Amino acid sequence: MAEELTVKKGGKEEMYEALLPQIEGLLAGEPDTIANMANVAAALKQVFDFFWTGFYVVKDGVLVLAPFQGPVACTRITYGKGVCGTAWKEARTIIVPDVDKFPGHIACNAASRSEIVVPLVRAGKVVAVLDIDSNYLNYFDDTDAKYLERICLLID
Ligand code: SME
Repeated sequence: MAEELTVKKGGKEEMYEALLPQIEGLLAGEPDTIANMANVAAALKQVFDFFWTGFYVVKDGVLVLAPFQGPVACTRITYGKGVCGTAWKEARTIIVPDVDKFPGHIACNAASRSEIVVPLVRAGKVVAVLDIDSNYLNYFDDTDAKYLERICLLID
């Protein structure tokens, strides 16, 4: 069992390449989804120091706050609302370069400037989303989408 992460500094791609096998190791053999979400949120926070990194899970028809790292956040997001609710509705990764320009963005914290939301799709249904906020404008790109989607596939 991996107890410590090795944090590689460098370009984004390199950092994800170093992180991915470590996350695979962390999750291997652990069937509990919440435990795995908690470690993924912690690992991403440790490596990238994002402003907010966490999950919302679909429960009784609403997205409910799940393991995260960062400041306290909104607990419930409805279908189609905000970036998370839109990623749920459209079942696709959404990158928002400037949250102030996203209609209906839910501002849990004014320090958040850009955002990426990746849905976890199981048996054709969105069961959760990974939401990451940066306090920099235009932080996220296709590299983040590619690796975060791979990381989300590792969570049962
Ligand atoms: N900004 C999100 C809400 C969640 S928080 O950022 C943690 C949204 O519009 O979906």
